[in-house]
Amino acid sequence: MSNEKKPLNHLAIIMDGNGRWAKKRHKPRFMGHKEGMNNIRRIALAANDLGIKVLTLYAFSTENWGRPTDEVNYLMKLPINFFDKFMPELMEKNVRVNIMGYADELPEKTSQITQKAMADTANNTGMILNFAFNYGSRREMISGVKKIAQQVKTGKLSLDEINENLFAKELMTAKLAPYEDPDLLIRTSGEERISNFLLWQIAYTEFSFTKKLWPDFNEEDLKKLIEEYQTRDRRFGKV
Ligand code: FPP
Repeated sequence: MSNEKKPLNHLAIIMDGNGRWAKKRHKPRFMGHKEGMNNIRRIALAANDLGIKVLTLYAFSTENWGRPTDEVNYLMKLPINFFDKFMPELMEKNVRVNIMGYADELPEKTSQITQKAMADTANNTGMILNFAFNYGSRREMISGVKKIAQQVKTGKLSLDEINENLFAKELMTAKLAPYEDPDLLIRTSGEERISNFLLWQIAYTEFSFTKKLWPDFNEEDLKKLIEEYQTRDRRFGKV
């Protein structure tokens, strides 16, 4: 499919519905997360084939610590399993891994594995597979505000110098430049909310909500939503 009609450089996905997927099959919730993890491979490869430059996946929010301990522990192991299983394929496809979130709060092994995945793929020049893991957008913005305030306090920066570009540079997405902001945000499972994800970055993003549960969301579903996105008229506030 042509990606030339309307650029889709940065695609973001809120992968929702793993628990319901498992429940429907009378399986424990972790089975849904396992299947959800396998689906990341499928959708990442499809996104790469479609010429997408950045795929951002909401894998664990700062609010997800409130889930039962067993589930949190399982979710923390997923990056370990994911990179164990799929790293050779990511290398083969020239995919660069980025993880954005509060890494120092993760269990040691999880943190190590994610740092290693980033280091191992740092020289890859293809699609960026960007995981939001222990990420929360309000907290990200507050951190950015504090860094700017500190510079003002020490006289390195004047109030007049604070603008949108300067603020965006303090966000975790600054590393994704020039594709910091998603063009399209998809949420699976029928829920229609943003859940503290990229609140600044989605100012002009197109939204797409699908009823499909994340483990069931496949390449064809992705292509259909992208085709639909390409029929949209993005005006960025202009006429
Ligand atoms: C939402 O479904 C899903 C999550 C909170 C976890 C998503 C994580 C993955 C798909 C795997 C992450 C893998 C890596 C490599 C980081 P839910 O549990 O809220 O589903 P429900 O709303 O149906 O209960």
